[in-house]
Amino acid sequence: MLFEKQRAFKPALKPINLRLDEFENFIIISPIWAMSLASAIRSFLNGFDFKGKNILPIFTNAGFGIGNALNVMKQECPKANFLAYLELSIELFERKIKNLRPLNLDKIKAGQSILSKKDEQELKAHLVNLSFEILKP
Ligand SMILES: Cc1cc2nc3c(=O)[nH]c(=O)nc-3n(C[C@H](O)[C@H](O)[C@H](O)COP(=O)(O)O)c2cc1C
Repeated sequence: MLFEKQRAFKPALKPINLRLDEFENFIIISPIWAMSLASAIRSFLNGFDFKGKNILPIFTNAGFGIGNALNVMKQECPKANFLAYLELSIELFERKIKNLRPLNLDKIKAGQSILSKKDEQELKAHLVNLSFEILKP
């Protein structure tokens, strides 16, 4: 992963059936990998011209901060308007529960949230604040 970060690796992505130019606001959620963006997110950002679009970055991590993820996002999308980012740390989950991945998948399949109540509240409050910013004339 460190190696992918060092050479700014951008893996090929499967095409998505969406006209991105029809959207104004993008919530981009990336896990932090090796104190940077996940490689597939680098590919996604690099594959579209975000000129005049709002980007709200959300980073999930295991409690070690966001490293250079925001800077890399800005480098990949120099024409975008960046809104305040949100960091969601799942440190307690990762440290206390082994096999987090199957646990998350089970919850997702059951339609349950994988966020803690605190994270959910923080996320909602952040989105409400930003919606005012986005809707400003
Ligand atoms: C390859 C890899 C590298 C990671 N590097 C970091 C890191 O540098 N700092 C950190 O806080 N968490 C790191 N993590 C933890 C992820 O950020 C955490 O698992 C993720 O945000 C949770 O989303 P997920 O369920 O999609 O994995 C890493 C995870 C993986 C798989």
